[in-house]
Amino acid sequence: MRMSTNSIKISADAIRNSIKVPKHPVWPELSGEEKAELKERIKLLLKEQNAVLVAHYYTDGDLQALAEETGGCVADSLEMARFGTSTHAETIIVCGVRFMGETSKILNPEKRVLMPDLDATCSLDVGCPADLFSQYCDEHPDHTVVVYANTSAAVKARADWMVTSGIALPIVSHLRERGEKVLWAPDRHLGKYIEKVTGTDMLLWPGSCVVHEEFKSVALERIRRLHPDAAVLVHPESPEHVIDQADVVGSTTQLIKAVSEMEQDKFIVATDDGIFWKMQQVAPHKTLISAPTAGEGATCESCAHCPWMAMNSLQNLEQVLINGDNEIHIDEAIRQKALIPIERMLVFAEEHGISGKYTGD
Ligand code: 13P
Ligand code: SF4
Repeated sequence: MRMSTNSIKISADAIRNSIKVPKHPVWPELSGEEKAELKERIKLLLKEQNAVLVAHYYTDGDLQALAEETGGCVADSLEMARFGTSTHAETIIVCGVRFMGETSKILNPEKRVLMPDLDATCSLDVGCPADLFSQYCDEHPDHTVVVYANTSAAVKARADWMVTSGIALPIVSHLRERGEKVLWAPDRHLGKYIEKVTGTDMLLWPGSCVVHEEFKSVALERIRRLHPDAAVLVHPESPEHVIDQADVVGSTTQLIKAVSEMEQDKFIVATDDGIFWKMQQVAPHKTLISAPTAGEGATCESCAHCPWMAMNSLQNLEQVLINGDNEIHIDEAIRQKALIPIERMLVFAEEHGISGKYTGD
């Protein structure tokens, strides 16, 4: 990533150009019988190793189902972090992306944290290198540093607070009430949305999610005209003009709750379509339409599905349980520093009754 570092100026284009988006992995097709056998073998391995699965809503439906069937957790990044601290399992297998595994390890250093693929990263994490970010913070010592969960342990170690999309608004509002200015990283769209809603004085790191960035506002207007009875649900990592058209803006958990509880029968959804598995589970008779990712003349690279989340499969989950590889390790000095902003968030969530898992209660 080339950036001017003499009083650093970071451009969204420089960040975007530095990110190589992988192709979606293609997993060998399994027959119903093969899949059922594979799931049984994984269940046995989980038991033998006193291991538990923690899966994000964007991962494959088979993984989400298996996590639920085996007493694990399927949730957003806030609840994934919290779950690890409440389980007695000695091994946590995080099906998601790298920052989720790292957060789990930061909170549970005594546990073994494994991931099906350690290369499963996130464009927000990659687009916010710790050295540049630290320099940026040094240049703005009068700002409270708030980072999104989608960052490396080293970036979290430089922060005052960590937030997820499900808790960012109340935490930043709380900081504003205390008269604090905020340095926000790395998602510029989420940052702008929070700035607009809370009226907080914010500096924004110009990173973005390659999946949500592809949702197109003009094409969305068109599809809304075709389905005037549909409610529009948008994850706040999406661009501003997409967010402006939303009936509900929220974290993955908040969008699932909306599908279950709103009176509409039809929803246009601007987030990763892995979430459809849980939405369909909580509201089987409702119709879900993916928000458009390619406007006229444009093509999509991710096409509403995160290529890094797609690196998790039943096949590599079994392998990691057999081999015990793909373990997350974090330098202890960094871990101790990164723990502070994460724990601050968890205490705030506890005090304000904010959850990151839809239970239907
Ligand atoms: P949630 O915390 O809303 O699940 O978001 C995580 C994420 O990576 C969205 O792209
Ligand atoms: Fe990161 Fe976007 Fe994938 Fe979420 S969907 S993990 S923000 S690249």
